Amino acid sequence: MLLSFHSYKGGTGKTTFVGNLGVMLAGQDKKVCIIDTDVNGPGIHSLFDIRYDMTLIDFLQGVCKADEVIYRHEDTGVYVVPSKACEEDISAMFGTPGEAKEKLLDLIKKIRESYGIEHFLFDCSPGINKSSLLTMNIVDKATIVSTIDIQDIRGTYLLSNMSARLGTQAALLFNRIPRDKKNDISEIVSDFSNKLGTELLGLISYDESVAKTWSRKIAMKDDQDCEYCIQVKKIAEKLLK
Ligand SMILES: Nc1ncnc2c1ncn2[C@@H]1O[C@H](COP(=O)(O)OP(=O)(O)O)[C@@H](O)[C@H]1O
Ligand SMILES: [Mg+2]
Repeated sequence: MLLSFHSYKGGTGKTTFVGNLGVMLAGQDKKVCIIDTDVNGPGIHSLFDIRYDMTLIDFLQGVCKADEVIYRHEDTGVYVVPSKACEEDISAMFGTPGEAKEKLLDLIKKIRESYGIEHFLFDCSPGINKSSLLTMNIVDKATIVSTIDIQDIRGTYLLSNMSARLGTQAALLFNRIPRDKKNDISEIVSDFSNKLGTELLGLISYDESVAKTWSRKIAMKDDQDCEYCIQVKKIAEKLLK
């Protein structure tokens, strides 16, 4: 399955969620590869502490081959294609958006053939930009990760409309929800998703222990039964259905 993760604003918890989801799937003996398409602010390599040489950008620019940009995280078995910080948008590296799409699909095909990857998770850049839309256009399902901040909610509405225009199935995930307000908020976001006609995957509470890791640890790697991990597992079931 090809799954992408988007948000309107940064910091909603995409990278953290994608990293944990990847570790969870690898723990179930699934072959999973996370591709960091957040070329403006890549972060997956930090979460997995991957020392890289070649990246997605080098592959897209034709500098290296597909198998030079994929790294296996030894502790978990998750495959990662990191990105390096780049001021350009992915599609700006090509003459047309079609060429960018073809190149990205070529990478997926090559990695799938060589490593038997079943699930690709794309950690996308926040906001409405060409590289995020390019990824949204090629996946089976695009998950929009939002907080309950009004800026996020309004952006989530826009992103959901974008996915509808592209004909890509979208799903909503609300993260960093204050624990004591989860029940009330659950009703509000359920109304919101009904109005949008977009599937609601669920809500994840604000978790002090995740916040305190400062992206230096993956909760799912240390304790699969932690509160955050249990919520991730529940959402993953819906997501992969
Ligand atoms: N449910 C949560 N509760 C508390 N902190 C979280 C939660 N999810 C993510 N975070 C923290 O929020 C910060 C931003 O998360 P990150 O995944 O990097 O966001 P994004 O990739 O959307 O920019 C990180 O420090 C991360 O540890
Ligand atoms: Mg991120």
